[in-house]
Amino acid sequence: MMKILAISGSLRGSSSNTAICQAMVRLAPDNIKISLYEKLGELPHFNPELDSDNLPASVKDWRTQLKESNGVLICTPEYAHGVPGVLKNALDWIVSSGEFVDKPTAVISASPSPDGGEKAHASLVQTLTVMAAKIVEGATLLIPAISAKLNHQGEVTDEATAQALRLLLNTLAKAIKKH
Ligand code: FNR
Repeated sequence: MMKILAISGSLRGSSSNTAICQAMVRLAPDNIKISLYEKLGELPHFNPELDSDNLPASVKDWRTQLKESNGVLICTPEYAHGVPGVLKNALDWIVSSGEFVDKPTAVISASPSPDGGEKAHASLVQTLTVMAAKIVEGATLLIPAISAKLNHQGEVTDEATAQALRLLLNTLAKAIKKH
């Protein structure tokens, strides 16, 4: 069974980015298990002094979940032209431990704006690249005008977006298999 960890960069209960992650969970075929990492907001603020033998339990769990996944899927909003602090914080905890090294990773950003959060997307790709993640070619996606593409239940109603998500998942799964 292939395991993919999905991470939403938004803590909002009715987040469109979390809805995309959940749509990916539903899209996954039987041989792929996508789990949503739901504890982003529980991680302490990164402090290198806490990165010791006394590591907080939440950080241990975050690292374990990443380690045990064959691939990662991140879907994030853009805040003030950047990556949400809560997501950047989570990534900072992984710089020293290296769970992202060579990890096949897909990067999506979704925004109500016409550019789909492209600045946060580019910044996130840069951060993951310096952490030596394997950003999978063809598994990056900007979703503009997201509000018009989801219904009230958070389901993807726009067929072109649903198709792009299926293709992205397929591309990520193929890269994981080859890995
Ligand atoms: C935003 N939003 C936003 N959108 C964007 O495309 N570029 C931006 O720089 C920002 N900046 C920004 C700052 C703050 C403080 C908020 C609250 C919002 C809008 C944002 O994309 C929108 O709220 C999304 O719906 C957030 O994603 P989730 O929570 O729906 O996943």
